[in-house]
Amino acid sequence: MAEKLLTVRNVTRQFGGLTAVNDVSMTIYDNELVALIGPNGAGKTTLFNMLSGLLPATSGTIAIRHDGRFYKVSGKGATSVAQHGISRTFQNIRLFGDMTVRENIMAALNNQFKENFWSTIFHTPGYYRAERKMNDEAQKLIDRYHLTAVADSPANKLPYGMQRRVEIVRALATNPKIIFLDEPAAGMNPEETAELTKMIRQLRDENNLAVLLIEHDMSLVMSLAERIYVLDQGEVLASGTPKEVSQNPAVVKAYLGGDINAAG
Ligand SMILES: Nc1ncnc2c1ncn2[C@@H]1O[C@H](COP(=O)(O)OP(=O)(O)OP(=O)(O)O)[C@@H](O)[C@H]1O
Ligand SMILES: [Mg+2]
Repeated sequence: MAEKLLTVRNVTRQFGGLTAVNDVSMTIYDNELVALIGPNGAGKTTLFNMLSGLLPATSGTIAIRHDGRFYKVSGKGATSVAQHGISRTFQNIRLFGDMTVRENIMAALNNQFKENFWSTIFHTPGYYRAERKMNDEAQKLIDRYHLTAVADSPANKLPYGMQRRVEIVRALATNPKIIFLDEPAAGMNPEETAELTKMIRQLRDENNLAVLLIEHDMSLVMSLAERIYVLDQGEVLASGTPKEVSQNPAVVKAYLGGDINAAG
């Protein structure tokens, strides 16, 4: 039986008079592949910002299991939640544009392999060991996720679809237990989307982690997600397997009466 990894209880977020996320509860289990869908402005990114610790909730609690204990995720920033195994990508790609793909990955690895202050100052054997381990680990990720050809190119020189892949690998480099992907297929052509679908499955299968992804591309969601949460006007409208959700009358209605499988 999979254990609870991330628990969201009655989380609300207001911006002035606007309630962007309203009393949302959800649970993500170890190693699950879950999608969060909903119309534009439904509150998906706002929820992600709270789950990844960037934005404090107005009320409610979010907790992540780490070494057998649950820790509160609050608006303390990405570095603090990364220590508890949370990592993410952004709706608008946030790579270090002037840095190469390898350097972007190294920057994320750095937190994991950080040596203590004195070993860094005096370049002790431990420092060189950590440096070597980091290089090896970066190369491993580059090979495994097919970034070899672009490894030493500046990130901002790459096609959009490739930048999204790099951002996902960088998120993986912090060794998370859960990765949040905010519209990973946005701006991709069907070929790139098919590649991405494979990559996300591989990401989950090979790394013992859970994935929660926001996506408007319903063919990707339906082929990839094991469970789906539907957010509408800040509230959970439905949740369940792809089949359950796509047959839910309220969901069909929220998607303008259309076929959810055809929505995009
Ligand atoms: N920092 C903010 N200040 C004020 N309002 C905000 C802020 N961030 C989001 N909102 C509002 O909250 C609501 C939810 O926005 P959010 O970006 O979470 O939606 P979304 O589901 O991610 O939409 P999309 O599919 O278009 O990305 C919107 O009405 C938005 O304008
Ligand atoms: Mg969004």
